Amino acid sequence: MLTRRLFLGGLSAAFAAGPRKLFAKEAADFDDNLLVFLSDVHAGAAKTCKHARKKLKEAVGEILKMRPLPRHVLMFGDLAHVCGLGVDYDASRPSFKLLEDAGITVTIGMGNHDRRSEFAARWPEAPKKSLVPGRFVHLVETPHVGFLMLDSLQGTDDRAQDDFGPVPGALSDDQQAFLRDFLVQRTKPVILCAHHAPKEMKLCGKPLSLVVVTTPCIAGYIHGHNHRWTRAWLRNKDQKTPERAKHVLGLPSNGLWGDIGYATCRVSPGKAEIAPTLKDFWLSRPVSAERRPPEWEDILAEDRASGPCIFRL
Ligand SMILES: [Fe+2]
Repeated sequence: MLTRRLFLGGLSAAFAAGPRKLFAKEAADFDDNLLVFLSDVHAGAAKTCKHARKKLKEAVGEILKMRPLPRHVLMFGDLAHVCGLGVDYDASRPSFKLLEDAGITVTIGMGNHDRRSEFAARWPEAPKKSLVPGRFVHLVETPHVGFLMLDSLQGTDDRAQDDFGPVPGALSDDQQAFLRDFLVQRTKPVILCAHHAPKEMKLCGKPLSLVVVTTPCIAGYIHGHNHRWTRAWLRNKDQKTPERAKHVLGLPSNGLWGDIGYATCRVSPGKAEIAPTLKDFWLSRPVSAERRPPEWEDILAEDRASGPCIFRL
């Protein structure tokens, strides 16, 4: 007969063996070379964010069903709706906690609609792990390539609650100094990641695009901000032979406007292949089939047909 004492004794013995044994996923459940990229989630607390919140829950549900699970989820900024309010970060935190509870590492970048102090209050580990104090700069290492998430948010925390701050991106001076030193020392391939595209940013006086194409360890650049699945080739015409070309990839928004979806990155020796999961296209909001402009279908079809984007490592 199972007495209360025996039952509790058995339970405590099981926990003494370690709760990980009971609940944790095994290493084989994860693929260290599989990552998911979200961007421009904008899952704030406002009524107007209801589609964005729904799409975040949907994406998280799909990620949790992947087998094996991705080791990492990277989010490329604009987690908040417009002004980086605390209630916005409260609204999205439970969805990301589901990923973390499953053992997936979540790394969040800063977009122009974010606010560092409100974010940090809900994500206290982020500032502790940042490579640049006062900014959120994180290196996500995988076996064949690293992903360096830069912080291109210019807006400061002392701005008014209803001030969404400057739209363009920039790297702070101390972040530029960090990146310069990092690139000098780095030999393993790295893909630079940020909310903003490289064409609007500089590193120590040089266009960041030029730095990307001329620095041997940089395999390419991934960004959000434009809410479109776009790719371009960077090249340096002044370079002597052989001339390298490197991809700049723009990610869809997970749920606000533009291309709606996320991307999956599979890394193997020599390359990272990034494929879009495009759910929809809309501008201010989804509309019924009867009211849906035909161009939206064309855009979605064209984007889906564009296929994966390959980064050579
Ligand atoms: Fe955005």
